[in-house]
Amino acid sequence: MRLDGRTAIITGGARGVGFAIAQALAAEGARVALMDPGGAKDGAPEAGSPAEEAAANIRDAGGEAMAIDASVADHEACGRAVAACLDRWGRLDILVNNAGVLRPKMIFNMPVEDWDAVVAVHLRGAYSMIHHAAKAMRDARSGRIVNMGSEAWRGTVGQANYGAAKGGLFSLTRAMARELGRYGITCNTVCPSAATRLTLDEAVKEGFRKRLAAGLITQARFEQVMTMGGPEHIAPFVAWLVSDAAAHVNGQAFRVEAGMVGIYNEPELKAAVTKADRALFSFEELSTLVSGTLLQGYVNPAPPEAAKA
Ligand SMILES: NC(=O)c1ccc[n+]([C@@H]2O[C@H](COP(=O)([O-])OP(=O)(O)OC[C@H]3O[C@@H](n4cnc5c(N)ncnc54)[C@H](O)[C@@H]3O)[C@@H](O)[C@H]2O)c1
Repeated sequence: MRLDGRTAIITGGARGVGFAIAQALAAEGARVALMDPGGAKDGAPEAGSPAEEAAANIRDAGGEAMAIDASVADHEACGRAVAACLDRWGRLDILVNNAGVLRPKMIFNMPVEDWDAVVAVHLRGAYSMIHHAAKAMRDARSGRIVNMGSEAWRGTVGQANYGAAKGGLFSLTRAMARELGRYGITCNTVCPSAATRLTLDEAVKEGFRKRLAAGLITQARFEQVMTMGGPEHIAPFVAWLVSDAAAHVNGQAFRVEAGMVGIYNEPELKAAVTKADRALFSFEELSTLVSGTLLQGYVNPAPPEAAKA
């Protein structure tokens, strides 16, 4: 098996994409720790230990798994999770930062608690886990870090907290690739699309039905959403990314969904206008040059609507 002898922490590993990844890594021989306190999709507490149930499920299938009932929003608990993995298995090879919560609202309705909660799980949680895990990986001069991104980093309505946190993750990935690559550690982003309770629960389906009925989306778009593939389509790619076969892949961002794997382009300066001797641009020059040169072909993603009477 391709991951024999390796160990992995998968945050948010109790369900959805994280659980599918944990199953796939375990099936390749990795020992997996599922770090997940459970909770509703907005992070509200829930009874029981879904992480223990998920770990038992993997053990029943012949894998080796342990549950860590802790939140990535707790910096010290992240340190304890890494220590638990090292104590039990003596090494930490793979970290998948997958934990996620959603609290969508328009920015003017978004309380600071919802901003903080989402950033604390997706972005600060990834920092905390990498901070603690990278020391062991550096000492071992080897490691694999995968951060679960989202298309929302490109900007979606009602998801300022989530999109900003995911955008931060893209930058964190790129920084980690450059900081840690010299120690044999790779860090990449995977942007999944899969039917989970986060993306396709009954409330989401009902919302899409209403939008279809109101003519706000096409039948084709409706069917595309309703037939979205499950999280098992994301897991094989992650298993490949953390294997020896992908040792050369570092700092990249991938898009993965049922039947498709894509890669995002590198963020780079697209065009520039310059001024001799670094002289100041005048207002008139900027009006001409920016509109005529830099913004050629540009379309405003959200032009103002006419005010309702
Ligand atoms: N499903 C998709 O199509 C999709 C699309 C884009 C991005 N993502 C990302 O993929 C990841 C997994 O999403 P999913 O769809 O499987 O969602 P999910 O709700 O099914 O699973 C998320 C898991 O994270 C756990 N979690 C929540 N807060 C946590 C915390 N503080 N510490 C540890 N674990 C915590 C939850 O208990 C849950 O088990 C998320 O980061 C999400 O943003 C998913």
